[in-house]
Amino acid sequence: MKRIAVQLYVILRRLHAKARISLMSLAEVFHRPTYAGHPIPPPRMRQLTTASHVTVTQHIQEGRQAAKMIEEAVHREIVEPESITAVLDFGCGCGRVLRHLRGVWPNAQLFGSDVDEQLVNWTRKNLHELAQWHIGDYLPPSEFNPESLDIIYAVSVFTHIDETAQSAWLTEFHRIMKPKGLLLLTVSSLREDTANISWDYEDKRGMVYQYRRNEIVNRSWVKRQTVIPHYIDAQHSELYCKSVWGSLFEFRGFFRNSLRSQALVVLRKE
Ligand SMILES: C[S@@+](CC[C@H](N)C(=O)[O-])C[C@H]1O[C@@H](n2cnc3c(N)ncnc32)[C@H](O)[C@@H]1O
Repeated sequence: MKRIAVQLYVILRRLHAKARISLMSLAEVFHRPTYAGHPIPPPRMRQLTTASHVTVTQHIQEGRQAAKMIEEAVHREIVEPESITAVLDFGCGCGRVLRHLRGVWPNAQLFGSDVDEQLVNWTRKNLHELAQWHIGDYLPPSEFNPESLDIIYAVSVFTHIDETAQSAWLTEFHRIMKPKGLLLLTVSSLREDTANISWDYEDKRGMVYQYRRNEIVNRSWVKRQTVIPHYIDAQHSELYCKSVWGSLFEFRGFFRNSLRSQALVVLRKE
């Protein structure tokens, strides 16, 4: 009985989400939203990058909040802002964050890259004057030259790729960043007490949990259909970021609740 009730609830939630997106899409056919003179992506694309936080207002406000978080972290770390000449938004989606940063570094080259062709194509077409937009592969190498970028940031990306991909990208970022370059990654932060639990199982919905002592937690929606081969929900403890990522970069801090429940990890190439 309980199982049927849960299944019914899941079906109703899915139907509700679909109806919501369809209604928004219909409304936006008649009134195409823009912000600061640039189009806002359609509801389906907003949903692909931000799940349920899909309204135009949420898209703008949360994008702006994330941009402010990046700007403030850069401000804390880099004394001479005029030295910033190249910035990469890794996993840029449809430019939700980068669109607010163009004015912050008016003279820098801005790049956005994402593995999702559909999102990058929309962004290229609609936000082309803000940055150069690249379609990348799920795993490195990227097309950037060695030591060419001052700042790389990734908002809600390391929250969705597995540990193998995370390690490969960290090594690649290290290659393409200038010495003293800044790397800013948001993570779903894991409380240290739950990080001590160690267990591993697959639940009925096909979600794989892997808890490893004091490490990263990968929760993988194995049945989810996506362009990303191993789409997961990952959570990181501060200890993990400090010890694992800190072995390649200088660990500058783990700032909890920087973007809703996500923490910002600040790393620097030495
Ligand atoms: C939750 S969305 C966040 C998008 C964007 N950063 C934002 O805040 O609006 C995660 C993004 O990461 C991208 N992504 C996932 N794995 C990637 C990879 N290996 N390389 C580049 N982009 C990736 C997805 O396509 C998706 O656009």
